[in-house]
Amino acid sequence: MRRTSMLLTGVAGLAATAFALAQDQGDEIAKYRELLADGNPAELWEMRGEELWKAKAGPRQVSLEACDLGKGPGVVKGAYAELPRYFKDTGKVMDLEQRLMHCRMTLQGLTAEQASATPFGSTGKPSDIEPLVAYITAQSRGVKMNVSTRHPQEKRAYEIGKQLFFYRGGSHDFACATCHSADKMRIRMQDLPNLTAKKDAQAAYTSWPAYRVSQGEVRTMQHRLNDCFRQQRFPEPMYASEAITALTMFLAANANGGVYNGPALKR
Ligand code: HEC
Repeated sequence: MRRTSMLLTGVAGLAATAFALAQDQGDEIAKYRELLADGNPAELWEMRGEELWKAKAGPRQVSLEACDLGKGPGVVKGAYAELPRYFKDTGKVMDLEQRLMHCRMTLQGLTAEQASATPFGSTGKPSDIEPLVAYITAQSRGVKMNVSTRHPQEKRAYEIGKQLFFYRGGSHDFACATCHSADKMRIRMQDLPNLTAKKDAQAAYTSWPAYRVSQGEVRTMQHRLNDCFRQQRFPEPMYASEAITALTMFLAANANGGVYNGPALKR
């Protein structure tokens, strides 16, 4: 009898908690964020990334320290705040993940397959890319986003990205803009940033990559975009594809002037 009533109280309590949780999920996450503000687990990825950056690897047994991320070979500080950008040596606009892949191939001698293997880690199958990206992006913390659209190729990438953002299709006839071009929209419990407005675009872009509490991993911008394409009922884009770079160019340039503050912490 006692046990039953205890059990019932327990169940009721649980239900109440679940309800309260659903109600205050926003508050709870804000609290959680505060709690972890001094110790974002992303730091572990940043440290691992620094090791990987400096370690001799690949068939050529060289490190990535001579990689040119746009500000000259070996310059990591502030590089992410200017990406994507046009690179003369490849004649292409590249985002961070494409450029990293390029450096792993040209410097370390990896094949394209090896350099893009496991872009998204999971338990027991860690990614090298996520920590490298966490390390590189962290070196732009506090730096203002300053992405150029002056080069014709950069301008072109931006325009293609913009078209992709507004392109409607799929079973629901959704575009990115369907969820992300009005103020104060919400889906389930989540606030949807208006990515066509400067303030929201800056806040969103400058916080990725991010440690995702729900996944226990640092996720890159490409992962975030893949997840949105999935919500849009579009097929998953290819890793490091030009479409992703173009879309990233659109988002990054719209965030110009915002202070980069990643890798952040997200639900
Ligand atoms: C069906 C609605 C939907 C569509 C369509 C959609 N998204 Fe999202 N997007 C979301 C949701 C939900 C989130 C998560 C918001 C949160 O965590 O609070 C999100 C988050 C984001 C974020 C991160 C914002 C932040 O502050 O962390 C970016 C960037 C983004 N989306 C870009 C896009 C792009 C680009 C497209 C088109 C390829 C797109 N989204 C399509 C629903 C959508």
